[in-house]
Amino acid sequence: MSAVGTPSTPGTPAPTGQGGRAGRAALTTACAGLLVGLDTGLIAEALGFIGRDFHATARMQEWIVSVLMVGALLGSLGAGVFSRRFGRRMALGAATLLIGVGALLCATAAMIGQILLGRFLIGVAIGICTFTAPLYISELTTGRMRGTMVTTFSMLQSAGILLGYLAGGILSGGGHWRLMVGLPFVPAVLLFAGCAFLPSSPSWLAARGRFEEARAVLRTLRGDEAAADHELAGIQAELGTSKPVGGFMLLRTRPYFRRSVALGVGLQIMQQLTGINVVMYYAPKILENAHFGTSAAAWATVMVGVVNAVVGVGAIFMVSRWGRRPLLVTSCVIMACALAAAAVIEGLHLQGMGAVVSLMVALLVFVAGFGMGAGPLVWTLCSEIQPIEGRDFGVGCSTLANWGMDWAVSNTFLSIVAVAGAGWTFAGFSVMNVVFMLFTLLVVPETRDVPLDVIEAHLEAGRPLRRIGR
Ligand code: BGC
Repeated sequence: MSAVGTPSTPGTPAPTGQGGRAGRAALTTACAGLLVGLDTGLIAEALGFIGRDFHATARMQEWIVSVLMVGALLGSLGAGVFSRRFGRRMALGAATLLIGVGALLCATAAMIGQILLGRFLIGVAIGICTFTAPLYISELTTGRMRGTMVTTFSMLQSAGILLGYLAGGILSGGGHWRLMVGLPFVPAVLLFAGCAFLPSSPSWLAARGRFEEARAVLRTLRGDEAAADHELAGIQAELGTSKPVGGFMLLRTRPYFRRSVALGVGLQIMQQLTGINVVMYYAPKILENAHFGTSAAAWATVMVGVVNAVVGVGAIFMVSRWGRRPLLVTSCVIMACALAAAAVIEGLHLQGMGAVVSLMVALLVFVAGFGMGAGPLVWTLCSEIQPIEGRDFGVGCSTLANWGMDWAVSNTFLSIVAVAGAGWTFAGFSVMNVVFMLFTLLVVPETRDVPLDVIEAHLEAGRPLRRIGR
């Protein structure tokens, strides 16, 4: 098995892939993260107005929020099949189109059913984006750029949430909820146009036997013929000579594939069990309950968005310097400590300015901890660990786990708080972060700078998961 993409292996051409066409294509793809975040962040402010204008009950308002996750679940389920058949570029294009249609439906809604339909379509699109974008980026780029660009996708997701909070805050002054929910239409159209300039994924082309097209794409992406040919040889070796089989068949017949799928699913479940979306979706409620005024809580929520986005920028630089494992472990430790502090403040019902500020700081530190590691790295790792023949299926399973757990955690949080109290709830999430740290130490591989075909070779050779990278 060749070391495709290893920058300094003696005697092998060094694929450049740093900058140029690969960088532009990966950056365009990463912009899908902005759309995903925007749709997550906008609804918080818009919901109140929609509820008022359509006399929506609390239950109906819950549906307006959660129908997006139902769509995302279905979207990530179908994305693997669609993307395998029509390619990553088409999948991304279809998703942007759906977001545009969904945003228009919401903005022009004459009845609540139209909003539900619009949000559902946007959800399907988000499911497709979160499946396709990290996978596509990891296939377009090599070496350090791979981690950097998948992290950029994650950072843009955080930036999108912040943009959603801010736009919601500004437009809510005049009650312009239709503008709020229609806003994603503009970036969706831009990204749809951008998709026209994206190349097909070389791995996808090769997996369909279109080797000469794959070679041509690789040559333009890498700007170096020898490196491109070397990389294609690696992809061909990964594909082997056997006939392609479906994901379920692979699961049944290849133990190593069961292990990589389990790792991806485990990573995404652990990411959601950190409690991140409890803070993302319910920050204003948590802070109001802790005696923040309504507008102070709104601004504090914007702060949560700012920290999430700013730390995301820092993560882009850290991910290629520190490596996946140290960053992920540090991230878990920070999150566990921050939530333990929040648990103490809430559990002991501490009052007064000091307690309120400390709770706010604890939540911000938690979000920073997530943004520097668990947020970007889980998506990066999931796009790196699957073998080429089952990549669509494997990434589909982990993306599905992400949305399924997101739905489960955010739909039970308020009920758990009502039964157990906020203190014990935060304590529970703190413990889950310790579990995530142990999970990382025991099974997560270090994939920084390791070519995808080398990871696959190690996986197939039966190495323990923790050692399929370096
Ligand atoms: C998670 C999302 C979360 C977002 C916050 C992502 O990595 O998968 O569930 O809302 O980070 O920035």
